[in-house]
Amino acid sequence: MTGGTGFIGSHTVVELQQAGYQVVIVDDLSNSKVDVIDAIEKITGIRPEFANFDLSDRAKTLAFFLKNSDVKAVIHFAAFKAVGESVTKPLEYYRNNVNSLLNILESMKLSGVSSLVFSSSCTVYGQPKQLPVTESTPRLPAESPYGNTKAINEDIIRDFCHAEPSIKGLALRYFNPIGAHPSALIGESPVGVPNNLVPYITQTAAGLRKELSIFGNDYNTPDGTPIRDYIDVVDLAKAHVVAIKRLLEGKNKANYEFFNIGTGRGLSVLELVNAFMKSTGVNLPYKIVGRRAGDIEKIWADTSLANNELGWKAVVPIEETLLNAWKWEKNVRNLK
Ligand code: UFG
Repeated sequence: MTGGTGFIGSHTVVELQQAGYQVVIVDDLSNSKVDVIDAIEKITGIRPEFANFDLSDRAKTLAFFLKNSDVKAVIHFAAFKAVGESVTKPLEYYRNNVNSLLNILESMKLSGVSSLVFSSSCTVYGQPKQLPVTESTPRLPAESPYGNTKAINEDIIRDFCHAEPSIKGLALRYFNPIGAHPSALIGESPVGVPNNLVPYITQTAAGLRKELSIFGNDYNTPDGTPIRDYIDVVDLAKAHVVAIKRLLEGKNKANYEFFNIGTGRGLSVLELVNAFMKSTGVNLPYKIVGRRAGDIEKIWADTSLANNELGWKAVVPIEETLLNAWKWEKNVRNLK
């Protein structure tokens, strides 16, 4: 697994190990800490193997696959993911996110690994005209270089699987992943001031930030704030387990497939903030400020395809997800 010490990767290692899979993590720790591996071991009792290198280095990636000839499948999470930064550093984003995928695909072919699960995003839909979005909803031009790397990488996998029928690719289009493991031993650790809503909320609740700024309440939504489909990270991790199983058991219906991974339910920013206060009992100071550039108004998933084909469904209630995010933040900050 690439990016296995990151937010979604670490939760997926836990779920894979608990389902009986043996995992080797590849990560260069550019946006995560090596302590995550101890935390995974604490939760599952199993220490995953770990290789520290940059997958955009072709020679190192090829050498890794040739050495680890028992690898049966790849889950590719490793990527730069800050939307705003990608606008100011597009070449870094294209070089890292696209090259690492090219190196992985080339290595898979050379070493005979036939299954790939790819970490994609609902960002590929832009602001869809019809809601909820299904997998037949057209993709729209990406809003940022980061988003574009997701669309480009989906296309690269599709074309490669077409050219190499022995290789199977499956992309999971995540909606908004939030929460943390119920053990509070792993979770999301943004560097610096968080860009995303839930880390900003939990850091405000912990007293690190004065108040949450809500970016706009003049959208065309019931309370004026934008709507997203917030998916619990443990539910999301489990989607990878069923996806890998599908490929390894040859249950896929095409050699490139893609699925929406969300709850099917849209929540506004204000609804989420209120759910946080209700489930944690913590008061959250907030103010309404202007819109954030590039934000879309509303999006949520139609998850029928994942429900029916993968036999996967999001089950964790939003209150529990937010409580887990809060437990994790308190653990990180040593708060009671
Ligand atoms: N928001 C605030 N205040 C904040 C942070 C966020 O009001 O301090 C609002 C945003 O305006 C948005 C909602 O909370 O309406 C969710 O924002 P996030 O930044 O948490 O998530 P986004 O939907 O903007 O971004 C997510 C992923 C990206 C992906 C993008 C695609 O985090 O990786 O979806 O749209 F590219």
